[in-house]
Amino acid sequence: MRKSTENPEIFKKRRKRIIAGLNGAALMVVAHPEQLRNNDVHHHYRQDSNLYYLTGFEEPESVLLIRPGKVPETVMFVRQKNVERETWDGFRFGPEGTKKEFHIDEVYKIEDFDTKAVELLKGHEELYYSLFKNPEADYWVQKVLISLKRASGRTGYGLLTIKDADTFLGEHRLKKDQDDLANQRIACQISAEAHIAAMRFTKPGVNERQIQGVLTTEFYMKGAARPGYNHIVASGANATTLHYNFNDQVCKNGDLLLIDAGAEYNYYSGDITRTFPVNGKFSPAQRKVYEGVLKIQKEIIAYIKPGILFKDLHEMGASRLTDLMLELGLVSGRKEDVMKANEHRKYYPHGIGHWLGMDVHDAGLYFIKNEARPVEEGMCFTVEPGLYIPADDINAPEEFRGIGVRIEDNIVVTAKGCDNLTSGVPKEIDEIEKLVGTL
Ligand code: GLY
Ligand code: MN
Ligand code: MN
Repeated sequence: MRKSTENPEIFKKRRKRIIAGLNGAALMVVAHPEQLRNNDVHHHYRQDSNLYYLTGFEEPESVLLIRPGKVPETVMFVRQKNVERETWDGFRFGPEGTKKEFHIDEVYKIEDFDTKAVELLKGHEELYYSLFKNPEADYWVQKVLISLKRASGRTGYGLLTIKDADTFLGEHRLKKDQDDLANQRIACQISAEAHIAAMRFTKPGVNERQIQGVLTTEFYMKGAARPGYNHIVASGANATTLHYNFNDQVCKNGDLLLIDAGAEYNYYSGDITRTFPVNGKFSPAQRKVYEGVLKIQKEIIAYIKPGILFKDLHEMGASRLTDLMLELGLVSGRKEDVMKANEHRKYYPHGIGHWLGMDVHDAGLYFIKNEARPVEEGMCFTVEPGLYIPADDINAPEEFRGIGVRIEDNIVVTAKGCDNLTSGVPKEIDEIEKLVGTL
């Protein structure tokens, strides 16, 4: 473990902002649990995004408790220093170190959580907490709530009300300030450079896994902490499996390659997809599908500005991709009928994009009380239309069978329009043809 390289004031500012929105309710955020892989070996540990967002603290077995307006207002529970464990697993801050380095008002050892949390939550009527993410933490919280109820005696008061912390914090994470955006931009930049390296490396005969290696190497060499999600490196018909990540096939001459990969930097993730020919030259059929998807992607990006509804981007995507399916002969009849019968979903089964940030499919509401929400300056999301024609689809014209194309960029809404954070990776056909295989 280490101290975040980010300035503790960034986290303090975030805490201050969310405290103002809590309306007196308490907030509890628990560390992501460690996951055993086998015997005494764990999966790579990554802190819970909400806990990192508010503290920058990366150790497991820790809890943040915020009590607006009370003293102490910010409290953490963390693992104690332990010379033997630190020899094996690395440095721990311990309560004193955490208080000092992370600017938290009071920090206790995690073993004291049961008793201290009861004292600290007395008098609160509402607690923001994310249930059912971490069963062990749910059990601690259950014990604390029951103790609190008991401590209130025969007053008739029931349990403290739990409100969903993910929903509350998601709204804050969705609206990104300059500090958030600085990280988001770097994550996108590293991701873009890795995609360029992968394009240059690709040629017939290389294995998808080797390309995954190029992407990962670039991520780490450029300062990313890890990939933001499992890479998708899908050649040929593998690209028609949306979240294909076996990534173990040889890339064949004449096939397309779809790469969906993003680097994580200071807990912010990029999420880029590019599709290009393994041999550097689009076939006429590949070109027809690719050009169609690219035109739609550019049209949608050009439409983005503050105030437009995110839902409208979905509708534009579905409508324009159905036009393309009709044009290519994948579906037939009247467009309205095709869409009403959801026939277009066979070739475009996902949405146009999603919020992007600390989680690749980031937190934040898409609808507010059933009303589609307008996008605002500082929100980041992906625009990723795609068309996927299964190899065994006997209803599709033969030339298109086994083609999967997705083009995905990362967008931030600006005061007057939007900025494409991943425009550095070529997506025009002539640019791609010049770049593939040039290593
Ligand atoms: N990488 C997953 C997605 O594009 O949503
Ligand atoms: Mn993606
Ligand atoms: Mn995406």
